[in-house]
Amino acid sequence: MSKKLTILMIVPVALMALVISGFSYQNQDNKFTANPSDNLVIPDNVNEILDNKCFGCHNVDAKSDKAKEKLLLDQLTTLSKAKIVAKLDDIHEVVEKGEMPPEKFLEKFPDKALTDEEATILKNWAKSASDELMGE
Ligand code: HEC
Repeated sequence: MSKKLTILMIVPVALMALVISGFSYQNQDNKFTANPSDNLVIPDNVNEILDNKCFGCHNVDAKSDKAKEKLLLDQLTTLSKAKIVAKLDDIHEVVEKGEMPPEKFLEKFPDKALTDEEATILKNWAKSASDELMGE
């Protein structure tokens, strides 16, 4: 095979690899993974629920300014202890009242509703993490 032909074949393959790795990188980037923090640890099972059911609206790149103003999950662990406590209490309250995800959104995406089990896991976590921070 001539050198020129080999190069001609390598270029598209390399480009494709670049594109594919770019895509998977983006996907990873869009997933919620809590920043490590001394103030707040988010267990994997809680992280997974927040990622599936809440993160889409409560992240810095989300569309709704209202949702972002109220809660940014990707910044939660970086807040001060007092602010984390306030956010945890808010999370507990909206889940307790069944206010999140918003009803209108659930009409279109019913599978995004929290199951009873998920609601319990979120509430227990929010309560115990908040209590722990308050106790310190
Ligand atoms: C479809 C988008 C969407 C999803 C999904 C969503 N939220 Fe929200 N969230 C909003 C919007 C919009 C607001 C602002 C509501 C307002 O101010 O009236 C909000 C507000 C909140 C607030 C602040 C409430 C207050 O008044 O202080 C909390 C806490 C919250 N959401 C938690 C969650 C949790 C936990 C989940 C997942 C179980 C979730 N959200 C899923 C859009 C969303």
